[in-house]
Amino acid sequence: MRFDVITLFPELFAPFLTCGVTRRAYESGLVDVRLWNPRDFADGRYRRVDDRPFGGGPGMVMLAEPLTLCLESIRADRAALGAPDAPTVLFSPVGEVLNHAGVERWSGSSCGAVLICGRYEGLDQRFIETHVDLQVSLGDFVLSGGEIAAMALLDAVARLQPGVLNDEASHQMDSFNPALDGLLDCPHYTRPEAWRGQAVPPILMSGNHAHIERWRRDQRLALTQRERPELVRAARRAGQLSMGDEAFLADLPKNPEPDA
Ligand code: ADE
Repeated sequence: MRFDVITLFPELFAPFLTCGVTRRAYESGLVDVRLWNPRDFADGRYRRVDDRPFGGGPGMVMLAEPLTLCLESIRADRAALGAPDAPTVLFSPVGEVLNHAGVERWSGSSCGAVLICGRYEGLDQRFIETHVDLQVSLGDFVLSGGEIAAMALLDAVARLQPGVLNDEASHQMDSFNPALDGLLDCPHYTRPEAWRGQAVPPILMSGNHAHIERWRRDQRLALTQRERPELVRAARRAGQLSMGDEAFLADLPKNPEPDA
């Protein structure tokens, strides 16, 4: 699937695309990432891509015209290569917060997307209203640009592609995976068995796989109940909690739930 990224800082993406387990997905073209700089579509000696906001106020606003020319080039390039047209996504705190379901939708999409990384105070609203199909946020905080959000989406999509993770089962066990039960993942331990006076939970060294599985399940239930009780309720509604799970949850000390 193809992702076109519109960014004033394409150089930020090079290390990200060439490191770690996801590198294979990008290098093989399984997740085909193409970078476009709106400055290449800007006019004049200074190739301006931003200007002061009408009405005054701090910061700069990205100009609609270079972004539009850039988007038109992407659309023409996609059409010339027989790639399907794709939705235009703007990363912004205004958008819907990205979650596992959203990542799964993107990772199964055949057309990919055009990802726009805003900078400065944002984009001219007329461009947003004319061209942006949806806005996506990483959370209720403000980044200085959408690049990190774009990388977060690409990374989460790439690791779900078949064959990208070394162990095929590993993303099946992810926190939030509703195919599993939507609970948080359990804690993990590796060598050495004793580290600076802290031992590994003895059950993990027991060799009893049934007990280890039950312990891991209980850890996931306890952690999720403590940190994200709404995910436990969702698993219950989806019929994904066994009687053993319910018995374990009933025995947990009751923590007052924070206000929703
Ligand atoms: N750009 C600025 N803040 C952002 C956020 N919270 N999520 C996505 N893109 C952003």
